[in-house]
Amino acid sequence: MADFDLGSSFIPALHKPAALLPITKHHDSLLYLIEKTPVTIVIGQTGSGKTTQIPQFLEHAGWCAEGKLIGITQPRRVAATTVAIRVAEEYGCELGKEVGYSIRFEDVTSAATRIKFLTDGLLIREALVDPLLSRYSVIMVDEAHERSISTDILLGLLKKIRRRRPDLRIIISSATLQAEEFLNFFSEPSEDQESADDKAGQVGAIISLKGRTYPVDVLYLESPVEDYVEKVVSTVFEIHNTEPDGDILVFLTGREEIDTAVQTIAERSTSLRSGAQSLLPLPLYAGLTTEQQMYVFDSPPENTRKVILSTNIAEASVTIDGIVYVIDCGFVKLRAFDPRTGIESLTVTPVSKASAAQRAGRAGRTKPGKCFRLFTEDAYRSLPDMNPPEIQRSNLAPFILQLKALGIDNVVRFEYLTPPPAELMIKATELLYSLGALDEYAKLTRPLGMRMAELAVEPMMAKTLLSASSFDCINEVLTIAAMTSLGGTVWVQQDGGKKQIESARRKFAAEEGDHLTLLNVYQAFVTKGKKESRFCHENHLNFKALTRAVSIRGQLKRYLERFGISIDENLKAPHEGRADRVRRCLTTGYFAHAAKMQPDGSYRNVEGGTVLHAHPSSLMFNRKADWVIFHEVMETSNKTFIRDITKIEKSWLLEYSSGFYQTKPR
Ligand code: CDP
Ligand code: MG
Repeated sequence: MADFDLGSSFIPALHKPAALLPITKHHDSLLYLIEKTPVTIVIGQTGSGKTTQIPQFLEHAGWCAEGKLIGITQPRRVAATTVAIRVAEEYGCELGKEVGYSIRFEDVTSAATRIKFLTDGLLIREALVDPLLSRYSVIMVDEAHERSISTDILLGLLKKIRRRRPDLRIIISSATLQAEEFLNFFSEPSEDQESADDKAGQVGAIISLKGRTYPVDVLYLESPVEDYVEKVVSTVFEIHNTEPDGDILVFLTGREEIDTAVQTIAERSTSLRSGAQSLLPLPLYAGLTTEQQMYVFDSPPENTRKVILSTNIAEASVTIDGIVYVIDCGFVKLRAFDPRTGIESLTVTPVSKASAAQRAGRAGRTKPGKCFRLFTEDAYRSLPDMNPPEIQRSNLAPFILQLKALGIDNVVRFEYLTPPPAELMIKATELLYSLGALDEYAKLTRPLGMRMAELAVEPMMAKTLLSASSFDCINEVLTIAAMTSLGGTVWVQQDGGKKQIESARRKFAAEEGDHLTLLNVYQAFVTKGKKESRFCHENHLNFKALTRAVSIRGQLKRYLERFGISIDENLKAPHEGRADRVRRCLTTGYFAHAAKMQPDGSYRNVEGGTVLHAHPSSLMFNRKADWVIFHEVMETSNKTFIRDITKIEKSWLLEYSSGFYQTKPR
């Protein structure tokens, strides 16, 4: 037969799914298992094709008939977006059509969507409006080994839902071997199980994708280093100057370290021998725009070695081809909650042995590789095997609120893969009671508690928003809620560095603190910055972040309007006393995050046990105050910082905290 002349209307798919992915040869057995058993557990090395291929297999096999969706949950927003982009390319559709994603405040799906990537937290939220998740024929809980708190809660919910929806197919995918634990969880009959139907059939099956991996040489330091960021930079150059071709993947803990390292590498690489291969450092962390995140997947220009500097996003959630060298700083930022103080923070913690192994494995995907661990072998031996799951070290308030809103009143008896400690449950219940979301019988209040659960912000901000009408500052608080939900700073560092940001910020500074400063920034942006392209540049502001704030604000406003709260943007509330009203309103939500300044300029929390410091990015850094409330806590190896700080009056704490600081309800 003659060759087809496909003509010009056909273009090859941008990315064809690689035929050699380990998952390909399991295609038939996978589909068979999914058809036959309600729960399928898929174990396979990162990069074997679980996330990108399984949804496409299912779609081709007809699991999207009658408009049903295949949902794939990710613990990380970055993974949800980048993977959706990749799968849309492979599938050959525009993003948001057949293949889309949905993360908080950003929904890129349409009526045509069949394969939907979303965060696990968002799927829990969807259950509020669709308790049986009836739009989905298959739900794949991806990266389950990470044991994010949302993943754990979602697994408990799915176990409940499955009893009412025998047709629903659940896939749990994990990069490490914890398959039995997941299978046992779904196989154990629940206490409130009405029928014994499961006993007859098999509940679940495990499939293990064997993929080829290559040996990775692991190298340790002889003696520990003080500054691992500097050591990262020198190791990058050492590899570059002495090792053969291959890209480098560096694990650091957060944005600030990564930005510093990227900048230093860029500066020092100008002194590379001319004609030598050049170095291209690229950051990968959650605060980047989706566009910036996608750069790491592009092949580097000729004669260039790519260096990707990432948080542990690249540990398992995303796969980057071409990596031959891994540099592991040995630390990771983890959520930590102190039940005594009620303060949750992100804390730089040594990695577990499991993480270190996973990181090293990233070097051996396509050929033998090397992993440079920036710690000693002795230090390695003292690492924990695994870190405890997030549910055991987090502020549970947002999750208890969600469970209650889902009608699960007895949150103690909810089926957890690993039950959280009682202390954390009590602390969360106390906070929700003081916020007015729960009554003295720990039942959800209506409408307040229910509305707090529905709002897409954490409980303290939800309460602030829902109090705003009574303080006549709804427009202001909507803006503040949007600006603090950005998950990154609105300031951009240009060539001038930090000093210039400071002087730009001074223009918008409000004496009362960061929240009102953010309000000033936003207002200047919507009146000037949206039209004048120079505005953002001149003021060192991030145009994209501010545009996102406008969109988030609109979404939050629609929530409030749905609750029947009227918002008149044109009606100017009296400016008189405005700052005062906003600060009082913030106290109604953030009383649990109060601190008092000490003579030495540091802060103490109310119980007095914890020393807190204003973050250098805060307006309150090096400024006098008495009592303040703060939005969040950030911990580094030697200091605990608070961020987004506003001055308040001590008397307000008693006035607005429903006894939080007197007798605590049990
Ligand atoms: O989920 P799993 O770790 O098993 O693998 P995957 O994310 O489905 O990735 C399968 C393959 O797709 C990887 O080996 C990469 O080669 C490729 N991929 C890519 O090039 N760019 C992406 N954004 C995602 C995947
Ligand atoms: Mg994956």
